[in-house]
Amino acid sequence: MCGIVAYIGKREAYPILVKGLQRLEYRGYDSAGVAMINAKGTLNVYKKKGKVAELVDFAKDKDISGNIGIGHTRWATHGEPNDVNSHPHYSETKDMVLIHNGIIENYAAIKAGLIKRGHKFLSQTDTEVLAHLIEDIQLHENIKMGHAVQAALRQVIGAYAIVVIDKNDPDTLVAAKKGSPMVIGIGKDDFFVASDASPIIEYTKNVVYLEDEQVAILRRDKDIKIRNLKDKEITPYVQELTLELESIEKGGYDHFMLKEIYEQPRSVKDSMRGRLIASEGYIKMGGIEDHERKFEKAKRIIFIACGTSWHAGLVGEYLFEELARVPVEVEYASEFRYRNPVIYPEDIVIAISQSGETADTLAAVEMAKSKGATVLGVCNVVGSSIARATDGGSYTHAGPEIGVASTKAFTAQVTVLTLMALHMAKVRGTLKESRYRQLLYEMEAIPEKIEEVLKLNDQLREIAYKYKDSRNALYLGRGVSFPVALEGALKLKEISYIHAEGYPAAEMKHGPIALIDEEMPVFVIATKGANYEKVVSNIQEVKARKGKITAVVTQGDTEVKGMADDVIEIPETDELLVPLIAVIPLQLLSYHIAVMRGCNVDQPRNLAKSVTVE
Ligand code: G6P
Repeated sequence: MCGIVAYIGKREAYPILVKGLQRLEYRGYDSAGVAMINAKGTLNVYKKKGKVAELVDFAKDKDISGNIGIGHTRWATHGEPNDVNSHPHYSETKDMVLIHNGIIENYAAIKAGLIKRGHKFLSQTDTEVLAHLIEDIQLHENIKMGHAVQAALRQVIGAYAIVVIDKNDPDTLVAAKKGSPMVIGIGKDDFFVASDASPIIEYTKNVVYLEDEQVAILRRDKDIKIRNLKDKEITPYVQELTLELESIEKGGYDHFMLKEIYEQPRSVKDSMRGRLIASEGYIKMGGIEDHERKFEKAKRIIFIACGTSWHAGLVGEYLFEELARVPVEVEYASEFRYRNPVIYPEDIVIAISQSGETADTLAAVEMAKSKGATVLGVCNVVGSSIARATDGGSYTHAGPEIGVASTKAFTAQVTVLTLMALHMAKVRGTLKESRYRQLLYEMEAIPEKIEEVLKLNDQLREIAYKYKDSRNALYLGRGVSFPVALEGALKLKEISYIHAEGYPAAEMKHGPIALIDEEMPVFVIATKGANYEKVVSNIQEVKARKGKITAVVTQGDTEVKGMADDVIEIPETDELLVPLIAVIPLQLLSYHIAVMRGCNVDQPRNLAKSVTVE
């Protein structure tokens, strides 16, 4: 959701904060703000509604000096996005400032108590309450900032990643977290704090991932100190980052989304690297090895996820049922966590999450664990909260995904789920060796086939031009291509703000068919396979009502060509693997339509990459 970055050391803080905020902007871009303490001990706070660029413009003739500072980019939860509600927030005396990612659920009660004690609040945010509370405790108990933060957080219900500085103590920066991510970079003689590692990697590769209810006290020229809320000292675990700087830059593309779409031949290959050797009939997935007996005995698989990751779970449902003959349920994490689901110890729960930080998915993981299930993770971000909370799992290795609309993370998730399903089938003996081998070879060929689809970009741009002014769109698919239809519709609505729905093709006649007229673009996945003829009939039904048809078909198809307004020919593959290829043209179509409509492709309105609030 919000992004936070902070620095203390010998360098100028402001350029580090601004660059970091730009890297974190994918997390929220309603407003941005910074605070620095200069050499004379003055605390300067600048904040602005809008993007980081607007903040930079606003601060350009102001005093931005100081080698301690904090910065924030906001995705509004409490209070509308405006200058006042932007972070950093002041304490009562205005000597202390705080930035926050998360939600303080009991802020109203704390605020009421502070108002009784004479505190005055400027904003409607829960964050400002926390700044006041910390200072109030510090002044009344006459304790150091770190202890005041600990005491304040003991009163707090909710999620937070916070950083606090105080102009009366310009050599200390205090950071703490619960339920929201936080990484601390350890430099030679300085410290960096951020919501993820992207603002840190160009300065240091040594990092500490703060755990829940831990408070880090970062003092100039001193070692890092970590304590928990019970005041127990914790030895920091310093890890080395594997992230590379190039992977978080645009590399000549106009947008991160386009770069990430084009990275898919490579990212899918990376998801399989070291895990699959078709010629040896070999799948090896280190992170689930310890759970092989569970795979053998599993009575059910439950996928929990949100957004695009949930669509990957739906593809997983087809794969695991078909290949490993195990019943599968796919659940929205946000619903699952608030039901009282029946979970058996023989169930395997698989959480799918690009960021590994989605609050609902994380809470669903904890719930499934508490009910005794084996919980595995399929995450992209290494070391993320879900990856750490699960009993095992597989990273997708897609590399950082910056565009808010997920693309390469989806294909990487589907790749990993396919390998897992094949592996499970092998362990359970549910698949003939010849079919198993054939699928392994088909998997190895997928990156090349994606490469071929990317060559259709010019054709896709032309089709996009036809539909750029549409107000609605319908996406249809059957079987394993139904989730692809859902994902195609989600991509379009996320970035172009065109209303779009994905439907199982045969269900169209129970509702959406009423919407079809000559204005309605209908995108159909009609590749060769068991349901092909049925989908062809659905296309006829659309055509009879004058809908405009764009069909994704298998190379060489002639039947659909005669009916559709446009066909997008993709290479042939096994029917079960079609999602990995068929989704690519739909991503590109959405991308071009959004660009033609002048939308902000990488940072669509109201969305955030990583949703760390409920
Ligand atoms: C947000 C993002 C989506 C993503 C979803 C789940 O809504 O904008 O792109 O699919 O969260 O995120 P996760 O990180 O758990 O996959």
